[in-house]
Amino acid sequence: MQKSIKTIGVLTSGGDAPGMNAAIRAVVRTSVFYNKVVKGIYRGYDGLISGDILELNSKSVKNIINQGGTILKSARSDEFRTVEGRRKAYEQLTSNEIDALVIIGGNGSFAGAHIFYEEYGVPVLGIPGTIDNDLFGSDVTIGYDTASNTVVNCVDKIRDTASSHNRLFIVEVMGRDSGFIALNAAVSTGAIEVILPEENKTYEELFRELEKGAANKKTSNIIIAAEGNKLGNSFELAENIKVKFPQLDIKVTILGHLQRGGSPTNIDRILASKLGVAAVEGLLNGRTDQMAGIVDDKLTYTFLQQAILNKAQIDYELLRISKILAI
Ligand code: F6P
Repeated sequence: MQKSIKTIGVLTSGGDAPGMNAAIRAVVRTSVFYNKVVKGIYRGYDGLISGDILELNSKSVKNIINQGGTILKSARSDEFRTVEGRRKAYEQLTSNEIDALVIIGGNGSFAGAHIFYEEYGVPVLGIPGTIDNDLFGSDVTIGYDTASNTVVNCVDKIRDTASSHNRLFIVEVMGRDSGFIALNAAVSTGAIEVILPEENKTYEELFRELEKGAANKKTSNIIIAAEGNKLGNSFELAENIKVKFPQLDIKVTILGHLQRGGSPTNIDRILASKLGVAAVEGLLNGRTDQMAGIVDDKLTYTFLQQAILNKAQIDYELLRISKILAI
């Protein structure tokens, strides 16, 4: 039988996402609500290995619900991928008397949590926090809504100048392996084309869309390219389009890490609050090796292994819609 949980540790891991602070706040306050001790582990798994751990209370998380980033800081830990690193982490957990962990992060962070659970039996509960929205087991991840709104805001501004100068802009958005942000932004900003990592789009298809646009007297255009798309990086895209359409004035904008920052939207704050409560309550009810998520508007727990092995699917209906509306 699982030993009773007196102390819960919480950490953020992987790429930060707006709303992670709201999730930390919810984890801390729910733990306090149930009379548990709660400890913040700084710098993700790296901080767990080195013992960068501090006790938190409800006041420690005041005025952070509206802040981007993560007060606990984050890292992608190479050491935690090693047996030795995880052994050191376990020793720190024991010496800090932490009985269970809440991990706020994405796929890689959950892979680490799952192995750690298998090796040491420490109860772990995941909260999906990544702007990429690419986790199976939750229709939305913390940070995705904020990042999407940031992208839409930026592309709207680019649209103004694109239209003033009759230019074609290639706007590169984050998403090494997933096109959620790109597809969402393409529909919301009226882009002529979107290029996703999930698709095997060819230059012929891309050129055809641009030709159609020209035939329809479009004078300026936006192409949204996810960073991990298979056609190439945005500068290569621009060069290849220029060869085919030398008359076009083409500019490239890479939105980069600004997509990861900023105050979380209302949607992300609510999501983070719900999942923070669900993670702690899940642990206290004996759940482990699972991730709390929202599926079809309902709180759901998915085994970490399922969340890791399966990939969230982009909305192909939305892709179809984007093609219809781009004429
Ligand atoms: O996983 C979130 C993400 O923002 C990806 O979209 C992006 O490819 C990656 O992180 C960038 O990571 P880093 O900040 O480590 O360069």
